[in-house]
Amino acid sequence: MDGTGTHGTDRDDAGEQRAAGTPRLVRRKTVLRAALAATAALPVSLIGGPALARNLTASGKAPELTPPCDDGDDPTPEQIEGPYFKPHSPERTSLLEPGLPGTRLTVTGYVFGRACRPLAGVLLDFWQADANGAYDNTGFRLRGHQYTDSKGSFALTTIVPGLYPGRTRHLHVKLQAPNRPVLTTQLYFPNEPRNSTDTIFDPRLLMTVHDAGGGREAAFDFVLDVPQDPGPGPGDPTPPESTWAVGVTYRTGDWVTYAARAYVCRQPHTSQPGWEPPTVPALWQPA
Ligand SMILES: [Fe+2]
Repeated sequence: MDGTGTHGTDRDDAGEQRAAGTPRLVRRKTVLRAALAATAALPVSLIGGPALARNLTASGKAPELTPPCDDGDDPTPEQIEGPYFKPHSPERTSLLEPGLPGTRLTVTGYVFGRACRPLAGVLLDFWQADANGAYDNTGFRLRGHQYTDSKGSFALTTIVPGLYPGRTRHLHVKLQAPNRPVLTTQLYFPNEPRNSTDTIFDPRLLMTVHDAGGGREAAFDFVLDVPQDPGPGPGDPTPPESTWAVGVTYRTGDWVTYAARAYVCRQPHTSQPGWEPPTVPALWQPA
């Protein structure tokens, strides 16, 4: 058994790591997650790529008024690394190995920036205890890194980590967007008895978990402090602002109504007769 004493040092910083305890009533990224799933076939260039440079300043930084995910989706909080991180983990999305005991667990989700747009190419480096609560400090069992795909999504296949003294059930992960600082944090499981006594536990880092096929499926979306174009994104709840018309120059992300339905523009164009939103799916996507 590992971690009885060393992991206890985690607790020294617990005061700063505790959540405010305020439940998030509106999860904008949950809306975006659904929108991304619905538009899975869309190339990322139509999700936000072309618009990205539109509102960036010359310095490449987002304007000061860039809205953060301020409806409750603040950047994912940091947590301490603990004593068991090892660099140079293998690149793999599955940590399963022959003979590895434990309940199968999948963790899926997205990584977003400050404007709640998905981030591609983000490094996620996971490490965790085995079913008995032990870390592999000599090899790389239950350690692995991967990168978000063009939609900002990741998927990890592993086992449910075991418990060890002093901690509730958790996964460790480091995230790094290209050319950005590393975020080190941990993920937690709901309805764990020890969540209420582990001083490092943070409810903002709770995964959504449910049983599935004898295993467990978990979901969590990260928000990194990465400046982004604050323009409308996929699934953005901004209401439609105008009725579609001929001769109008539309930009990616613009919203219109046509025949009492809302559509969002998929690529810049000037509208022409015959290009009504329902008839040109390459230009307009039902909102
Ligand atoms: Fe740990």
